[in-house]
Amino acid sequence: MFLDFIALFLGIIFLVFALSVFIGVPFLPTHKKQALRMMELAEIHPGMRVIDLGSGAGRLLFLAAEKGAVAIGYELNPFLVWWTRLVASLKKATVVVEQRSLYQADLHEADVVFAFLFPKPMKKLAPKLFQELKPGARIISYVFSIPGQTPIAKQEGIYVYRV
Ligand SMILES: C[S@@+](CC[C@H](N)C(=O)[O-])C[C@H]1O[C@@H](n2cnc3c(N)ncnc32)[C@H](O)[C@@H]1O
Repeated sequence: MFLDFIALFLGIIFLVFALSVFIGVPFLPTHKKQALRMMELAEIHPGMRVIDLGSGAGRLLFLAAEKGAVAIGYELNPFLVWWTRLVASLKKATVVVEQRSLYQADLHEADVVFAFLFPKPMKKLAPKLFQELKPGARIISYVFSIPGQTPIAKQEGIYVYRV
């Protein structure tokens, strides 16, 4: 029984990472310390609308919700979507995750957008960010910069942009 449980657990882990390869960007959660730093740089206030493009297991969403934000994630990997929804319901957090491509996200109402993606998707995403986001909205990108854009701040591998 215990070995069955371990095998199931390992199987799910394998599927999560196998799917990540298929999706194109692997699931790597933002390190906790950097995630907290990203929250500070985002200057989140209660009621703000915060979006994580490729929300993984929801780490950034839950931290944003703790600050009073309405946190919305877009994630293609069904296991990560399921996990985020489970944790959100257990925590009663103001977190919503949609199993949809991040390129289909509606960004018009967002105050803050987080991204931890690779250079190729960042390049593809850049025009959408600057066309859809309202003036003053913040984009916080971890590790990878947005090609052709100058950040207003850069700290510990975190790039901050203001539209
Ligand atoms: C590096 S992880 C970052 C996870 C999370 N944002 C964090 O910081 O902890 C990137 C995530 O983006 C997701 N992803 C990649 N391409 C995507 C797409 N086109 N639409 C939605 N999610 C995508 C992957 O499944 C993965 O979970």
